Amino acid sequence: MAIQRTLSIIKPDAVAKNVIGDIIRRFEENGLSVIATRMTHLSAKQAGRFYAVHKERPFYKDLCGFMSSGPILAMTLEGSNAVNLNRQLMGATNPKEAEEGTIRADHANSIDANAVHGSDSEENAGIEISFFFGDLDLNSRL
Ligand code: CMP
Repeated sequence: MAIQRTLSIIKPDAVAKNVIGDIIRRFEENGLSVIATRMTHLSAKQAGRFYAVHKERPFYKDLCGFMSSGPILAMTLEGSNAVNLNRQLMGATNPKEAEEGTIRADHANSIDANAVHGSDSEENAGIEISFFFGDLDLNSRL
């Protein structure tokens, strides 16, 4: 499997629950390495830029409001098959549909407050990583 990088965000609900450590433990135990981290509190406008791809969706305004409601932890993860592996560890977007043992099944309350975000493709991972991090912030662990 190819080595990839992907963006993970621990969302305001999971930061508020103090489960940052539990989420990162799952990444590390499954072969993903953290190569950059940034805690920040986005404005609604910044959240809107990050999620611009969803701007026509009915949930866009609520999504931007939620993502700017408190601090988040953005991370770059590196490892074999990182994009899909991260998505498997997160579970389905709607926690009601998330498989047992996934991050969302264990920590998410609703489709909006769903604990984590992860890039959905290698192409989007590149775009999302560069939203939060510059080249000098990325410290390969290979
Ligand atoms: P995320 O992976 O961060 O990508 C976009 C977010 O929009 C998603 O997680 C959900 O938290 C949120 N969202 C709210 N309603 C929906 C929906 N119907 N379909 C997909 N995403 C939704």
